[in-house]
Amino acid sequence: MAITNEQKNCQWRIARRPKGNVVAEDFLYHEEEIPILQDNEILLRTLYLNLAPVMRMYMSGESIAGEKGLDIGDVIHGRGVAEVIKSNNSNYKPGEILQGQIGWQTFKSTEVTERERFRKINNCGLPFSIGLSTLGMTGLSAYFGLLACGKPKKNETIVVSGAAGGVGSTVIQIAKMIGCRVIGLAGNQAKCDLIKELGCDEAINYRTEDIRQTLSNLCQNGIDIYFDNVGGDILSASLDHLAQNSRIVLCGSISEYLHDKPYGLDNYTKLRRTNSCMQGFFIYNYSAQFDAAEKELSSWLKERKIKPVEHIYDGFENMPKALSSIYDGGNYGVALSRIRHGPNDDE
Ligand SMILES: NC(=O)c1ccc[n+]([C@@H]2O[C@H](COP(=O)([O-])OP(=O)(O)OC[C@H]3O[C@@H](n4cnc5c(N)ncnc54)[C@H](OP(=O)(O)O)[C@@H]3O)[C@@H](O)[C@H]2O)c1
Repeated sequence: MAITNEQKNCQWRIARRPKGNVVAEDFLYHEEEIPILQDNEILLRTLYLNLAPVMRMYMSGESIAGEKGLDIGDVIHGRGVAEVIKSNNSNYKPGEILQGQIGWQTFKSTEVTERERFRKINNCGLPFSIGLSTLGMTGLSAYFGLLACGKPKKNETIVVSGAAGGVGSTVIQIAKMIGCRVIGLAGNQAKCDLIKELGCDEAINYRTEDIRQTLSNLCQNGIDIYFDNVGGDILSASLDHLAQNSRIVLCGSISEYLHDKPYGLDNYTKLRRTNSCMQGFFIYNYSAQFDAAEKELSSWLKERKIKPVEHIYDGFENMPKALSSIYDGGNYGVALSRIRHGPNDDE
């Protein structure tokens, strides 16, 4: 089912609540007329859509920080990069490329409100997918999670789980720039090689190594910061190896998303014994500071201090399969679907 009909708005909608990982039957393909532009609206044509672990939570009906969970038949939530093709809003011109909440669809007509504030992408000469990777919510989560919650200092030891994923691959690079010693965890040898290329001093394959023993060998003075993308047993093992005054950043818990019951952490008292602090964060709570963060991330990109790591799945028709793949560890870096080639893209 390739998108050959540019005259229609193609959508993926939710057909039923997923059980375990998402499967094809959880999604419904739908075509409708391209929306007609109304007063004050902009008409967007999608270039890229983000594939994020949080999407399955929305499909389960969970509301997350004011964003309502999906009802059966709704278009799947998702941020995207899109080109303005028509505009009735004087702040946006045809040809501009924006990022924001688009949903799994190939066109969207919308007003620009405080809630749906589409951001113009300063792409730093890179493909516009950067608006969903380093300069999107993924890069911003790495930035605020590490700098505002983790408060890293030179020579500290930081352990990052989900290190070869979107957030993790950016956390590693920022932490190295600051002068930390970085240990990453990932699910196979190729990912361990990738995170070492990105600067990790040590890489742990959590599927084949004894995590507790390896952390004990590698962190003899303890972990100063644990950046948690996965929760579960890796979080628990990290708590057993904390240095005094350490910080645990709760970014995500992907290992628990497919289960009905949370893992049930039983060693949290290690926080008291080490005078440590465990802090969760939700990226949209930092939205007032996004402009400043984007500016700093852009300058690091231009100076080549950091680079985007993107895993691009091709084709709107493949999106359900691509989403399921990230729960199986299929992605190396930020998982994105390319819907159409945009300016600056490699063909
Ligand atoms: N707090 C916030 O505001 C915020 C914002 C953005 C993202 N997040 C969260 O941050 C986390 C990372 O996000 P992301 O976009 O960077 O995700 P991502 O990299 O796309 O996540 C997928 C990766 O997680 C790893 N993974 C999957 N199941 C696992 C398991 N059972 N145990 C250990 N690792 C597992 C896989 O890599 P391996 O092959 O290495 O297993 C997979 O490639 C997610 O939990 C996400 O929900 C939170």
